Amino acid sequence: MKRRWWKEAVVYQIYPRSFLDSDGDGMGDLHGIIAKLDYLNQLGVDVVWLSPIYPSPGDDGGYDVSNYCEIDPAFGTMTDWEGLLREMHGRGIRLLMDLVVNHTSDEHPWFVESRKSRENEYRDYYIWRPGKEGREPNNWASHFGGSAWAYDAVTDEYYLHLFSTKQPDLNWENPRVRTEIHGIMTWWLEKGIDGFRLDVINMISKVPGLPDAPVVSGERYQWAGQYFLHGPRLGEYLREMRETVLSKYDVFVVGETPGATTEHAIDLTHEEAGSLDMVFQFEHMDLAPPKALARVGKWHVGPWDLIELKQVMTRWQKELEGKGWNSFYLSNHDQPRSVSRFGDDGRYRVESAKMLATFLHMLHGTPYVYQGEEIGMTNVRFESIGEYRDLETLHFYQEWVDRRRSDPHEVMAAIHAKGRDNARTPMQWNASDHAGFTTGTPWIKVNPNYRQINVEQARADPSSIFHYYRRLIELRRQHPIMVYGSYELLLDAHEQIYAFLRSLHGERWLVVLNFTADLPVFALPSTITFSQHELILSNYPSDSRADPRLFRLQPYEARVYRLDRAQHKAREVRNDAGDGP
Ligand code: NOJ
Repeated sequence: MKRRWWKEAVVYQIYPRSFLDSDGDGMGDLHGIIAKLDYLNQLGVDVVWLSPIYPSPGDDGGYDVSNYCEIDPAFGTMTDWEGLLREMHGRGIRLLMDLVVNHTSDEHPWFVESRKSRENEYRDYYIWRPGKEGREPNNWASHFGGSAWAYDAVTDEYYLHLFSTKQPDLNWENPRVRTEIHGIMTWWLEKGIDGFRLDVINMISKVPGLPDAPVVSGERYQWAGQYFLHGPRLGEYLREMRETVLSKYDVFVVGETPGATTEHAIDLTHEEAGSLDMVFQFEHMDLAPPKALARVGKWHVGPWDLIELKQVMTRWQKELEGKGWNSFYLSNHDQPRSVSRFGDDGRYRVESAKMLATFLHMLHGTPYVYQGEEIGMTNVRFESIGEYRDLETLHFYQEWVDRRRSDPHEVMAAIHAKGRDNARTPMQWNASDHAGFTTGTPWIKVNPNYRQINVEQARADPSSIFHYYRRLIELRRQHPIMVYGSYELLLDAHEQIYAFLRSLHGERWLVVLNFTADLPVFALPSTITFSQHELILSNYPSDSRADPRLFRLQPYEARVYRLDRAQHKAREVRNDAGDGP
């Protein structure tokens, strides 16, 4: 396995509009980020991934871009951005830009041109089709509800939009489109960035002919993932991107790939032949099966199963080992807060957030921390739909309450559990008004729990979640086993404990995580023997000599032991980019 800087890194995701507002307009901005770089430095993260900051009508929180080589004035200027990059690099923090090129905004000049006439030179930048028997060209559903096609009267044709009507899909079959995108990427790389996060990159190749999706529900429009996920030319497009652009820079790219299997991931991130460096997979985000309310499963509310989580994670850990590279996240701007989803955001908020942090950092792969996760920010429960801003959430409510007359309480319960705004409420800096996020009126309300949960409080408390994250990030720097060690699941059938081993050159670490508020007993399988042990980390004050063979866990307790160190001294790892440990 090759040693690479981005395998060893911890990435921190910033959702800029909710991070820090420096000018009182209620929106986070670049100067706000600059003001908090010392905070990120104290946390110890190596890379920052910025969600989009390009000019955008803001239909989908900036994921609808109208100019790829500019900064949205709401965030600042290009000069501010250059200052941000300089300040980051000065602190040893690298920058990952979000590249959203499956689609543009409908206000992008390419689309403005494209819709003017069928002969326009930009017409083929997008996917236009005539209607079929007075209806859409096919029965595909869009991610945000309704048809994936919008009718445009100017030319009497429909354009494809897998997301909102304001996000027309680019036509990657057109070589000019690909050349434009390569140009945009090169432009940013020449400015000195360190890589990209590629938004829904496995959707860029659609099956030719765009056939109707099989009718599997009574809905008018059907899920058509088999015709646009991992399409026939995806590999070719990404290889071309690698050869033309990425291979010329020491950067990394992480592709967002909904629906990816381990086979896809190995193919895309293969050590030798992969075009991407890692992907975001979704299996651990989709644990529970779709229920009545769920259009595509996402809105399902209910318990999830630890054994299923272990199976999913173990499959990804084992199958990619030595072949591709894993990334791991528990939350981001599209997902609920991790402590609310996988832990306990009430009584055991601190303990469970630390347990989840241990999980995140101890798996084999590059960990991604989402802003606010490091202080245990929780889901929000706005009472009225009027407080929500995310278009997916608003469409969901409209569809089920306004159109289908479902019980609004049930729909709000789904939004409280799964809505994307859970992760988009402003970062909680301190206990002053609006959590110190803005002096104006925030674009979305602050979570009312900011007086208890905020950065100022967390930094001042040595036993906080924040300091626990710091410790984990520091440990990763010191111990290659956290990055490169292989993974082995223990106790696969245990319903409360997730335990595993990491191993590297005879050194073994034992990770034991209690995912419940119960007090289960951990018993190490007798096949695992060792002569010495050391407690490396725990989220409770633990007796450092406590025997790892048999012990009772506290609610949401996490322990990490080193086994055998005295017998097998870890081989030093080389510091170059050659073959790693
Ligand atoms: C994935 C992004 O993370 C999400 O926020 C966005 O809505 C879709 N892609 C469409 O760009």
